Amino acid sequence: MATAQAGGQVRAGRHGVTNRAGVISIGSRVTVFGYFVFGDLDTQSPLKVKITIGDGSIIMFRFQCNAAESVRIGEDVSIASNVFITDSDHVVEPDGTPVTRNTKLVTRPVEIGNGCWIGQNAVILKGVTIGEHCVVGANSVVTRDVPARTVVAGNPAKVIKTL
Ligand SMILES: CC(C)(COP(=O)(O)OP(=O)(O)OC[C@H]1O[C@@H](n2cnc3c(N)ncnc32)[C@H](O)[C@@H]1OP(=O)(O)O)[C@@H](O)C(=O)NCCC(=O)NCCS
Repeated sequence: MATAQAGGQVRAGRHGVTNRAGVISIGSRVTVFGYFVFGDLDTQSPLKVKITIGDGSIIMFRFQCNAAESVRIGEDVSIASNVFITDSDHVVEPDGTPVTRNTKLVTRPVEIGNGCWIGQNAVILKGVTIGEHCVVGANSVVTRDVPARTVVAGNPAKVIKTL
């Protein structure tokens, strides 16, 4: 985390890794517990911020966030343990070339609004925008946008309540 941009009072747990610290921007009063992974999926691209974590957000253990272009986590977002967020998928070639030998990605930015609570083991996939003050239930896989003040749960995540 040495060269990531970070505001004041940032606390990062042990055993966290990233392959390109310069793509991460962390606000003030942010806590990220241990065993996190921040991955730049396109390390040949010009250096720019790809992963943003807003002021006051708290991220529990074993968080993984992969970005080729942009993952923006708002302010005061609470993320439980084992959450995975990605803005990309591998392009799976019909000729059978394995993804280990194919660096092509399909990428769409991800945004998580201020004040969201993301439950344990949730997965948030490429292209998803989650509005402000939403709840994502434990074990959910979010594949579509979520309007503000909405509770979603399940795989694929569906609306279960409006707040
Ligand atoms: C999403 C959540 C907040 C909803 O709580 P709630 O408002 O009390 O919801 P309810 O228990 O009334 O459930 C409403 C419906 O959604 C379903 N549901 C709730 N959470 C679900 C989940 N995570 N996955 C799938 N379905 C879920 C319930 O089974 C129920 O379905 P039904 O109407 O068919 O019976 C809660 O279930 C949850 O997942 N919390 C996350 C806990 C967590 O990860 N904590 C980490 C520490 S910060």
